[in-house]
Amino acid sequence: MEGISRRKMLIMGSGALGALSMATPAQASGSDPRWIWDPEADPVVASILDRGQVPEVNRLLRTWTRNDQPLPAGLPADLRAFIDKARELPSWANQSTLDRAADFVETKGTYLILLYGLGGGMLSCAIPNEARAVYYSKGGADLKDRAAKTGKLGYDIQERNAFQPDGHLLVTAVKTRLVHAAVRHLLPQSPYWKQGIPISQNDMLVTWHTLPTYVMRKLTEWRVRVTPAESAAFLHVWQVTAHMLGIRDEFIPATWEAANAQSKQVLDPAMGRTREGVDLADRILDISAKGITPGGSTRPLLNALARYVVGDRAADMAAIPREVVWEPLIRTGVPAWIALRENLTPLPLVPKIAWTLDEAIRKYILFYLSGGEQISIEIPDANRPS
Ligand code: HEM
Repeated sequence: MEGISRRKMLIMGSGALGALSMATPAQASGSDPRWIWDPEADPVVASILDRGQVPEVNRLLRTWTRNDQPLPAGLPADLRAFIDKARELPSWANQSTLDRAADFVETKGTYLILLYGLGGGMLSCAIPNEARAVYYSKGGADLKDRAAKTGKLGYDIQERNAFQPDGHLLVTAVKTRLVHAAVRHLLPQSPYWKQGIPISQNDMLVTWHTLPTYVMRKLTEWRVRVTPAESAAFLHVWQVTAHMLGIRDEFIPATWEAANAQSKQVLDPAMGRTREGVDLADRILDISAKGITPGGSTRPLLNALARYVVGDRAADMAAIPREVVWEPLIRTGVPAWIALRENLTPLPLVPKIAWTLDEAIRKYILFYLSGGEQISIEIPDANRPS
C-alpha cells in the first residue's frame, strides 16, 4: 500500500469499495478515480467525432428510446458493439429491489425532483470542474435546452418501469455516457479549456453525490418518512444508474454510510466559486423562475428556496442573491410545506406560505418534466461557440 495517497486510502477504506465491487484487491489499489475516464466509451466516440459521423449517429439514435428496443440499423460497428454491451444491467442489479423503489420514487417524487433539480442543479454550479465543463461545452450556450435534456434523466428515473423492458432509463444513461465521452474529446480542443481531460471517474462521483447522497441527507434532515427498505431501494436505483453512466463498480458506494463518507472526501473539497458557475446559476434560476411564472416574478422566492435547499456555503459559491424578505418566509415555509405534504397538519391550519410554495414547486416540476417524453439527448460535435 506504500505510495497510496491519504485520499485514496480514504476512498478505499470508507467502504466505497465494499460489497458491490467484485474488484480484486490489485485492481482496487491500482486505480485512482481522478485518472480514469471511460476507457470503453471514449475511444469509440472520439473516432465517431473524427470521422464526422456524429450528425448521422444522432439521427439514427433519435429513434432508439426504449430499454428493450434493438438498435437501429446503420450505426458504425464499433458504436453498436459498445452500446450493446453498455445497455446491459450489471449482474448485481436486483430487479425486485429496483421494483421496490418504484413506490418510493413515486410518492416522494416532488421532493426528489425539487432536490435533484434545484438542489443538485445549484450544487453543480458550485463545483468548478463541472461548472466550467458545462459552461464551455455546446450546451452552455443554450441552457434551457440543456436543462430540459438533463431533466430527461430525472424524468426517466422517476418512471415506475425505469429499468424494465418498456422503460427508458437504460437508453438515456447510455446516451449520457456517449455525451460525456464526446465532451472529453471536444473540451480539450477549446481555447478556453485549461483543465486537461474533463469528467474523470472522480468528477462523476462528485456529481453523483449531489444527487442521491445529497437528496437522502435532505430527506433525513427534513424528517420525511423513509423506511429502511425504501432507503436501500433508492440507493440501489442510483448504484445501478451509476454503473449505467460508466462509473466503475469498484468506486460505487455499497452502503449509505460509504456514500456519506465518500461524499465528504470527494464532493466537499471539489466545491468552489467560479465566474462560470456564478453565471450558470444565475441563468438557471432565471429560466426556472420563468418556467414557474412567465414573467419570472418568482425569482426572489426561488433564490431564497435555492439557498435554503443547498445551504449558505454552496449558495455563496454560486452567488445566489440574498433575499431579505423571502429567506425568513422560506425558513418557516419549507417545514410547513413538508408537514402539509406529509399530512401532518389539519388543512385549516396550513399557513399560506406552505400553499404558495406548494404551487411554485408544482409548477417548477411540471416545467422540467414536461418535455420528458419528446426530448432526445444528442452527442455534441462542437464546443460552445465563442
Ligand atoms: C451532459 C447527467 C456528470 C458535464 C449530460 C446529460 C445528462 C447528464 C443527462 C445530457 C444532457 C445534454 O445533452 O445536455 C449527468 C449525471 C452525472 C453527470 C447524472 C453524474 C452522476 C457530469 C460531470 C460533468 C458533466 C461530472 C463535468 C465535470 C456534462 C457536460 C454535458 C453533460 C459538459 C454536455 C453538455 C452539452 O454540451 O450539451 N450530463 N452528468 N456531467 N454533462 Fe453530465
